[in-house]
Amino acid sequence: FTLPIPKNEPVLSYAPGTPERAALKEALRSLKSQELDIPMIIGGQEVRTGQVVRIAPPHELSHTLGYFHKGGKEEVEQAIRAALNAKEAWENMAWEQRLSIFLKAAELIAGPYRAKLNAATMLGQSKNVFQAEIDSACEMVDFLRFNAKFAEQIYREQPESAAGMWNRMEHRPLEGFIFALTPFNFTSIAGNLPTAPAMMGNVVVWKPAETQIYSAHVLMEIFRKAGLPDGVINLIFVDGPVAGEVIFSHPEFAGLHFTGSTATFQHLWRTIGNNIDRYKYYPRIVGETGGKDFVVAHASADAKALAVALVRGAFEYQGQKCSAASRAYIPANLWEEVKQYMLEDLASMKMGSPEDFTNFINAVIDEKAFNKITAYIDAAKRAPHVELVAGGNYDKSKGYFIEPTILRTDDPMYTTMCEEIFGPVLTVYVYQPENYEDTLSLVNQTSPYGLTGALFAQDRYAIELGTKKLRHAAGNFYINDKPTGAVVGQQPFGGGRASGTNDKAGSILNLLRWVSPRAIKETF
Ligand code: SER
Repeated sequence: FTLPIPKNEPVLSYAPGTPERAALKEALRSLKSQELDIPMIIGGQEVRTGQVVRIAPPHELSHTLGYFHKGGKEEVEQAIRAALNAKEAWENMAWEQRLSIFLKAAELIAGPYRAKLNAATMLGQSKNVFQAEIDSACEMVDFLRFNAKFAEQIYREQPESAAGMWNRMEHRPLEGFIFALTPFNFTSIAGNLPTAPAMMGNVVVWKPAETQIYSAHVLMEIFRKAGLPDGVINLIFVDGPVAGEVIFSHPEFAGLHFTGSTATFQHLWRTIGNNIDRYKYYPRIVGETGGKDFVVAHASADAKALAVALVRGAFEYQGQKCSAASRAYIPANLWEEVKQYMLEDLASMKMGSPEDFTNFINAVIDEKAFNKITAYIDAAKRAPHVELVAGGNYDKSKGYFIEPTILRTDDPMYTTMCEEIFGPVLTVYVYQPENYEDTLSLVNQTSPYGLTGALFAQDRYAIELGTKKLRHAAGNFYINDKPTGAVVGQQPFGGGRASGTNDKAGSILNLLRWVSPRAIKETF
């Protein structure tokens, strides 16, 4: 192996007086002073349809960041053609050459493009500076560097050969093209889903969420600057059903790399199933979907650490992480203390625009999300057996702002304990400490999901029992830590059950889904 094992990209502080703070302020000012005209990128060409859609920061709806050009069926077909045209040269390129392009992209993001990509994420997706830094800078760089390392491992590992023969494994890309359908909530996930298959020699049609186009456009600029050949990744802005109709009926559709809602993923899986006899190849389906992530505490837990984890886990990025803590099970002996700590922590958190670096809470992504989240809050305010512990107010006059909201319920099956809200709402169920084991069963059975979860305890028997009983309840399981913030190369991310195929983003498992190996035996 020649590539060094990557080190995680350091998280910069952005403290007053630091160079990164000055660069970021300048990038924010520069992006805000222009109205970008954002084309699709198909076969390396900028495609403008003239059918433009305005982009505004979710926290400042009156400001125009730019416009993107929306495509239709024709652009989807064009993107598939461009991908297939690029395929032969791309899959025949030596893998070292291919990986070098992505390693160069990582250098560009870690260095000269860091401020611009972070600024685009802050403005377009309403992320505070820390949340942008850990996502569009650190996690994106880590995905690229670690995946390149895993790819090298895949290409170099070869089978044994007995005397008189030579066995080889050729890790071919899939036959056809990959469709990357990406979410708004992490710029790095949006960047990882097309690049991971592309690293393995695949060609890709990439459709980002409309609400992430602003930073997707910057990512594409970086990939091209790093030397990505035309047509390898094609960026299209098309409504989901229009894109789906063309893509899933195409004989060369070879794989879906998806992050988004469970309902959409299941719909796409069904569509692919219904079209199965059209395809040349059994498509690979890799998806990360919803979560209803838990925090369960034992009577022996450290109340302060638990409270910090609950607030961070539930409210960072306004709870819009598939890993966000959204249901908590707290023993009665700890509840009052935990509540006090949480209220103190919340009191110190300001809400507003991410351009003011002292704001911890920013806006939720769009009106649809705002309406959905606030409907849950309104229903909870009216519900018997539900107490509003904190927050509960919201305002969309300037941007989509919702206060971090904590609910407490006596009913462990209350709606907000079971359904994914994808917003800043945490529901707490207080249980009697002697019912710890029954509570673990409740945690395990309450939701169909299995993404992340956290267990807080000091008692080693309680930790062991919780770890065993919750084996299938989370693909990322945290002991005495919050359930968010998985780091590439350290806690490979993904879950099972209704949360996805658990192919672990940023891991060798994921990259192996994008190859179809040929075993070659040559005898002498
Ligand atoms: N990887 C993110 C986290 O762990 C979620 O996608 O928070």
